[in-house]
Amino acid sequence: MAYKIAIIVGSLREASLNRKMARAICKIRDDNLDCSIVEIGELPLYNQDLDGNPPEQWLRFRDQVAAADGVLFVSPEYNRGIPGVLKNAIDVGSRPYGQSVFDKKPAAIVTVSPGAIGGFGANHQIRQSCVFLNMPVMQQPEAYLGHVTEDSFDESGSLKAGPLGQLVASLAHAFHDWVDMIHRSRQLLADDAAHAAQAAKTKEHA
Ligand SMILES: Cc1cc2nc3c(=O)[nH]c(=O)nc-3n(C[C@H](O)[C@H](O)[C@H](O)COP(=O)(O)O)c2cc1C
Repeated sequence: MAYKIAIIVGSLREASLNRKMARAICKIRDDNLDCSIVEIGELPLYNQDLDGNPPEQWLRFRDQVAAADGVLFVSPEYNRGIPGVLKNAIDVGSRPYGQSVFDKKPAAIVTVSPGAIGGFGANHQIRQSCVFLNMPVMQQPEAYLGHVTEDSFDESGSLKAGPLGQLVASLAHAFHDWVDMIHRSRQLLADDAAHAAQAAKTKEHA
């Protein structure tokens, strides 16, 4: 059974390199990752006054993320930080208080830029929010993907052969393994707890 992955792309640009990168990553593990991009461009700005009567776009977004087994953030860096549209989506998904749809979802963060630093600043700002949101975030390989241009991709949307393609392939496999490990270990813990409860019950009635 494939894991459902919600991809959140921090660029609304039609020809976005980040969107292309997100698709290229998914293609590498489409055997076991069922990825869909959750659109964030139409989300009204988060306003706590609306928590009691939320806009339908917020509800749809929250449902889409809640249904996922993992979240992949793929984002540009704007002015050395997280793009506002992505921060808004994170805020929308995190509320109402105590009902965050991000809670416990395994995640990975990829930043893509034509520049040399590869969105390092934005990457760590997203990571900082994920820490607060209680999302186990994949540590390695770190993905500050610099020097990415249209020319990095072939006509089918895959990355051309080379060091970038190799790094992204290792990232896609690591993300799959990360999501798999977290879900399997939670299942084992749940099974253990069920066995312990059953054993306690049997002892009680002995
Ligand atoms: C408002 C704005 C701010 C930007 N700031 C940065 C930056 O801090 N670091 C960086 O590497 N690139 C920066 N860029 C360039 C983006 O990395 C580049 O436009 C990239 O292609 C955007 O991602 P996209 O192709 O997915 O839309 C900025 C672009 C815009 C529009």
